[in-house]
Amino acid sequence: EALDDIVNVRDFEAAARDRLNRVHYDYFASGAQDEVTVAANEAAFGRRALIPRVLRGPGAPALETTLLGQPASMPVLIAPTAFHRLAWPEAEVATGRAAAAAGVIMIAAMLSTVTVEDIAATGAKLWLQLYVQPDLAFTESLVRRAEAAGCGALVVTVDSPALGRNERGDRNDFHDLPPGMRCANMGGDGHVRDVVLSPEISWRHLDWLRRTTSLPILLKGVLHDADARLAVEHGADGIIVSNHGGRQLDTTPASLDRLPLIADAVAGRVPLLLDGGVRRGTDVAKALALGAQAVAVGRPVLWALAVAGEAGVRRLLELMRGELANAVTLLGAGAPADVTRDQVVP
Ligand code: FNR
Repeated sequence: EALDDIVNVRDFEAAARDRLNRVHYDYFASGAQDEVTVAANEAAFGRRALIPRVLRGPGAPALETTLLGQPASMPVLIAPTAFHRLAWPEAEVATGRAAAAAGVIMIAAMLSTVTVEDIAATGAKLWLQLYVQPDLAFTESLVRRAEAAGCGALVVTVDSPALGRNERGDRNDFHDLPPGMRCANMGGDGHVRDVVLSPEISWRHLDWLRRTTSLPILLKGVLHDADARLAVEHGADGIIVSNHGGRQLDTTPASLDRLPLIADAVAGRVPLLLDGGVRRGTDVAKALALGAQAVAVGRPVLWALAVAGEAGVRRLLELMRGELANAVTLLGAGAPADVTRDQVVP
C-alpha cells in the first residue's frame, strides 16, 4: 500500500515524484526563475535552532486553536494551491474530506478544479482564496458564492500583480490545464488564460471588498512591514506572510525571515499566518514562536494527494499533528503558542 513506507513529508515528496507525470510534478515543485526563494524558505527553518525549557510539567500539549473566531484542531492550515485534479481524480473534494476529518481549515484556491460549493459539501472548514478580478461584478459573484457556501473567510492574494516567470513551465510548455480539467469557479470554459492577474489591483480594491462583504478578509503575500501596517489600516482581519512558495518574485527573502519584523509592525492587532517551507512540526513551532498564530502548508498537501488522495492528505495531517505535539512537548510548552521567541536562536 502506497502509504506504508511514509514516515515524513520528505517521503511524500519522493513518492509523489515517482507517481506524477513529470510535467505536473514540475508544476507543483517549481518556483520562479532560479528558484532561489523556493530554497530559501526551507533553509530559513534549518538556520534556526530550538532551545527547550525543562521541568515545567505542562502536561500533554493542547494543539487546538481559534482563528478569526473559528476553531481548528491545530494551527496548521491547508494553503491554497491550484489544480488538485492534476494530482488526484477527486481533486479538491479529496483534500476537503481529509481536512474535514482532521478538523483543519482548508483555504480553497479560486483556481480549483472543483467548485467551491462542491468543496464546501465535504464539510471542511473552508476559506476561499481570491485573485481580485478587474471585472468586479465577477469578483463579487465569487464572494457571494463563498458566503453562500459557508466559507469562514476570504484570502486575497496580493503578491500576484502578474504571473511569476516559471521556466520549468516554459520548458514543458505547460500553460493551461489538460483537456477534461477546468478552473471550475471561473466562467466560460474555465481556461487558465482567462484568469486576470492585474497590475492595477490596489488598496482601493481592498476597500471595495471591505464594503462588499462582512466576511473576514486576510491578505496573503505580504512581505514588507509598511504593507502590513497598511493592511491593518485598510481593515484587513489577518495577514499571511508569504512569498507564494517562491513562485512569484524570485530572490525575495524566506517568509520566515520577514516574520519577526511584520509581527512587530502589526503588534497583535490582527492574527498573522505564515506559509513557505513548513515541512516539520519543529518548523511550525519556530513560526509560532516568531510571531505567527498559525502556518499553512502548500506542496506537502499536493504530494500527499498525489500519493493516496484523501487517505494521503489525512496521513499527512496526522504526521504534522504528531510532529507538532512532540516538538511542543520537548520544548517544555503546554501549547504551540506557549513557545517563546527566546526559544528560537540562529
Ligand atoms: C500555490 N500557491 C498559490 N497561492 C495562491 O494564493 N493561489 C493559488 O492559486 C496558488 N497556487 C499554487 C499552486 C502550487 C502548485 C503551489 C506549490 C503553490 C501558493 C501557496 O498558497 C503557498 O503560498 C505556498 O505553496 C507555500 O509554500 P510551500 O508550503 O509550498 O513551501
